[in-house]
Amino acid sequence: MARTSQRRTEDRTNTAGTDHADAQAWWGTGQHVESVEVGSVPVVPSPVRPDLPTERPTDLPTWEQAWQESAFGPNGFYTRQAPEGHFRTAVTAGRAIADLVTDYIGEFLEHHRHACIEDLGAASGQLLQDIANWSDDQKLSQRINLRGFDLRPRPVGLDSRIAWVCGDLRQTLAGQPAITGIAIAHELLDDLPCPIIEADCDGRARVILAQDHQAYLGPPVDSPERDEFRQWESWAAQWWPIERSFMRCEIGMPREHLWQLIVDHVAVGWALAIDYGHVKAERVAGTWDAGTCIGYRDGRAVAPRTDGHANLTAHVAMDALQASTPSGGTLRRLPMSSSMPPGMYLLATRRSSPVSPS
Ligand SMILES: C[S@@+](CC[C@H](N)C(=O)[O-])C[C@H]1O[C@@H](n2cnc3c(N)ncnc32)[C@H](O)[C@@H]1O
Repeated sequence: MARTSQRRTEDRTNTAGTDHADAQAWWGTGQHVESVEVGSVPVVPSPVRPDLPTERPTDLPTWEQAWQESAFGPNGFYTRQAPEGHFRTAVTAGRAIADLVTDYIGEFLEHHRHACIEDLGAASGQLLQDIANWSDDQKLSQRINLRGFDLRPRPVGLDSRIAWVCGDLRQTLAGQPAITGIAIAHELLDDLPCPIIEADCDGRARVILAQDHQAYLGPPVDSPERDEFRQWESWAAQWWPIERSFMRCEIGMPREHLWQLIVDHVAVGWALAIDYGHVKAERVAGTWDAGTCIGYRDGRAVAPRTDGHANLTAHVAMDALQASTPSGGTLRRLPMSSSMPPGMYLLATRRSSPVSPS
């Protein structure tokens, strides 16, 4: 009955992997599911929770609201912590992402004199530094401008060739002129808080609410309490149908809103989303019924609590992302390697014609 869920134990953690005890403590008395293997990937599912209290006040924050505060609020994870202190990403683990991105840049510069390269959610600026080094090697550095966007201030000691925009992309991006070049969102969208709904024991989809940093089943999504619930219901009907008791669905809409901003921000060139993801065939098959929301702290995967102590993440519905802009794009799953964790997808969305001179 209960499903399994792939966890990123070997990428956003450095050693220990998912903490069963911690997860079990938080998820309470819900049904526990054995860790299983999907392909070569160790997976640890979140236990489903058939006996959660359902009589909760409906004015509690939704899971998305609590996650938002936990990530970006005054005591939020990203307000107080540097990601590299808590987890590795494919950018910091090796060259795979830099190689992938520089292939796009090289191809772009065959047709354009200049390229503006922007890393959205640039963290320490590692990817931009790798691109700067590559452009030196290729004698292309005069033809590219590099710019990082992040919530965090410009990292101390960052290469002076890299410009930096500090702030929440959902605000800062709109104030920037559209670029000719390439905008990269690597492991950004999975960090964006999203609503979660879950089927109760009768199979009725209910909104997950948060209290004291824990999750509770709230009102049914088809109740008239908030208009947004209906929007979530319709997103789920299209992309992640609720068909089984206890299954969970992570609503992709907030990620799609940011992706629309990113795609609109590229006048000519490419918008690249590289992230942990899934597609509808997997969701319908039940591969992700336990949901994917998890926390990372001190190099370990931990149960997701909205107390700001851990980086919360949930995989991206990549096909819904692809369909969310008129430009669409090409979606492919990236092959796993020593520096590319499993479960990563690339959505490459082309804007205008990259062969027209800029
Ligand atoms: C998981 S880290 C990935 C960092 C980098 N792209 C990499 O792959 O190593 C996500 C980064 O995005 C930033 N971030 C998350 N949400 C953001 C937002 N709404 N606006 C700007 N930056 C954001 C965080 O501060 C963090 O540095």
